[in-house]
Amino acid sequence: METESALEPFLKWPGGKRWLVSRYSDLFPQKFERYIEPFLGSGAVFFYLNPQNAILADTNRELIATYRAVRDRPDVVSRWLSRYDRRHSKKFYYGVRAEFPRSAFGRAARFIYLNRVCFNGIYRVNLRGEFNVPLGSKERVKFSRGYLVNVAARLRRANFRTSDFESVIAEATKGDFLYVDPPYTVTHNNNGFLKYNDVLFSWEDQRRLATAVAKAARRGAFVFVSNAYHWSVRELYQPLGNSRRLARYSILSADSDGRRSTREAAFFNYSLKKPGK
Ligand SMILES: C[S@@+](CC[C@H](N)C(=O)[O-])C[C@H]1O[C@@H](n2cnc3c(N)ncnc32)[C@H](O)[C@@H]1O
Repeated sequence: METESALEPFLKWPGGKRWLVSRYSDLFPQKFERYIEPFLGSGAVFFYLNPQNAILADTNRELIATYRAVRDRPDVVSRWLSRYDRRHSKKFYYGVRAEFPRSAFGRAARFIYLNRVCFNGIYRVNLRGEFNVPLGSKERVKFSRGYLVNVAARLRRANFRTSDFESVIAEATKGDFLYVDPPYTVTHNNNGFLKYNDVLFSWEDQRRLATAVAKAARRGAFVFVSNAYHWSVRELYQPLGNSRRLARYSILSADSDGRRSTREAAFFNYSLKKPGK
């Protein structure tokens, strides 16, 4: 049976926002028409808000194909995952990593399997597009019974796109909630020297994004941008009007002394309801 409470995402994703929804959900708008998420990853905010109507997009083709397969046949994907679960071992992992099932549901199950047992849920491919993350220490392959069916029911309310963010953001109109969570890129200093991750999401992309977001805000969409806590980013997104410094706690490895907090930033263009009002 479908439950209407918040569901956990079925993927682990670098930069995933489970921490944001568990600590800062009061920063989201109370009411909106459509939900639009152009940098989907594991969709932590989508699963938390559970909107009735959504556009979900990412440039990662295999990721979006996985969502579509889970939406269409969660039962078939679950059967594949059970097979992976029974056979899981180090040797099996590297075998699966090297193969590419012909069926869309097999490919989705492979994607989920690799995501669940690979090192830290990292997604990385080589120049030929082959997944190359080593095995991690987690052993849980299968989900609890009925979970993927619940996930699929939520995903049926969404339209999926394999796309760069710009055309997706251009769809946002008055009353929509646009949640924007790009890869974090900052300018290094005033000389315009760029950091290593610019190859993946350049400073030029970050500027292009700020422009697209500002236009959506002018059209009347509610906009929330997650980003790095850095002056260069603040300068770009300040026109949205509101910002908050957020603390993300990460659990460090067992031999370190506990939890460390990292600063992140949130920018948004709507006012927040005061408690009790
Ligand atoms: C920080 S992650 C999003 C994490 C997500 N909010 C979550 O909770 O898991 C950023 C995502 O942006 C995607 N991405 C990178 N460049 C993109 C682009 N130009 N357009 C759309 N998506 C892009 C990546 O594939 C990645 O999934």
